[in-house]
Amino acid sequence: RIPAGARRQSRRAFYVKAFLSKGCARRRVSERNRRRRLLARRLKLSPQATDENRVCHIIPLTGHIRTPAPHPALRTTFPRGGRLIMEGVITMDKQNRKAIIAGNWKMNKTATEAKALISELIPAVKDAGCEVVICVPFTDLVTAVEMTKGTNIHVGAENVHFEKSGAFTGEISADMLTDLGVEYVVIGHSERRQYFAETNETVNKRTKAALAGGLKPIICVGESLDQREQGVTEELVRMQVKIALNGVTADELKNVVIAYEPIWAIGTGKTATADQAEEVCAAIRKVVGELYGEDAAKGLTVQYGGSMNPKNAEELLGKPDVDGGLIGGASLKADQFAVIVDAATKG
Ligand code: 13P
Repeated sequence: RIPAGARRQSRRAFYVKAFLSKGCARRRVSERNRRRRLLARRLKLSPQATDENRVCHIIPLTGHIRTPAPHPALRTTFPRGGRLIMEGVITMDKQNRKAIIAGNWKMNKTATEAKALISELIPAVKDAGCEVVICVPFTDLVTAVEMTKGTNIHVGAENVHFEKSGAFTGEISADMLTDLGVEYVVIGHSERRQYFAETNETVNKRTKAALAGGLKPIICVGESLDQREQGVTEELVRMQVKIALNGVTADELKNVVIAYEPIWAIGTGKTATADQAEEVCAAIRKVVGELYGEDAAKGLTVQYGGSMNPKNAEELLGKPDVDGGLIGGASLKADQFAVIVDAATKG
C-alpha cells in the first residue's frame, strides 16, 4: 500500500522522500528508529545507511548500493513512473533522467513549410518541462537552427553518414551537422532499415561517428509484427541495442538516447499498449545495465515511438521506463505535439 503522504508528494513535486525522512519529521524518535532498522533489514543495508536524509539519496539516486529486488508485495508502480520499492521508499530514477520528446518529421515539410510550423511550435512548447527536439529533413536544418536560437527547442537531423568526409555522393557527415548547430541525430530508424539497407552494423558505425562528431544519437530499435508474433521481440531488441552500442564508451553513452519503435505501430495508428512499451523499454535499460552497469542504465533516456498522439501520450509516458517519445505524424501539428510535450512534463 502506498502511504498517502508519499503519494501526495510524488504528485506534487515529482520526487519522493523516504518515509524516514521529511514525511515523518514529526514522528517520535523511537518510531523513526524502529522504521530505520526495519528498512535496513529489508534492504540489507547497514542501519547507518538508512539514516534519515541519506535513504532517498543512497538507494534510489546513486545506486551505490545495489537495490535488492523488492518484496513482490511492496512493488507498486506510481502513476508518474516512480516505483515503490518498499513502504515509503520510491525509486527516483525516472525523475533523474532527461525526458525527451522528439519530433521526427521524416520526409515532410519544405523549408518554407518548416518555417510556418516552427513559428507555431515555439510558443506552443515554450514552457516545456522536458527537452524538446525536432528532427527535420536536411533541407530544413538551417531554417530550424536559425529559428530556434534562444528557444527551448533543440534541432536534430534524421541521418548521418559514418565517414568523416570523402567521395560519398549524397551523404552528410557529423561535422557538417554540428557546424550548422545541429545537436541530435536519428539513427537506424526502421524506415531506413527497411528501405535503405540500414543494418545493425551501419547503425553502429553511424552511432560512433555521430558521437565522435559531438552529436547525440537517437538510436531506433524495434520489432516487426512477425517478430512480435514469433515471440522474439526481447531477443531482437537486445541484439539491436548491443550491436548499435558496440565500441561506444560509458562516457559516450551519456549522450545516447534509445527509441523503442515497434515497426507495426509506426504510422499505422496502432500503438503498443503502455505495458508493451514499458516491457521493451525496461528490457532495453536492462541490457544497457548489463553492458555498462546499473548507474549508466538508470541515466539512459529510453523513448517510445509509434503512433504516439495526444490521446495515448500520458499513459505511455507515465510508465517508469518510458522517458520520452519519438513522434512522427503528431509532430507535424504544433497543437498535437504540444499536448505530448505537456504529457512528458507530467510523466
Ligand atoms: P508515427 O508517430 O507517425 O507513428 O511515427 C513514429 C516514428 O516513426 C517516429 O520516428
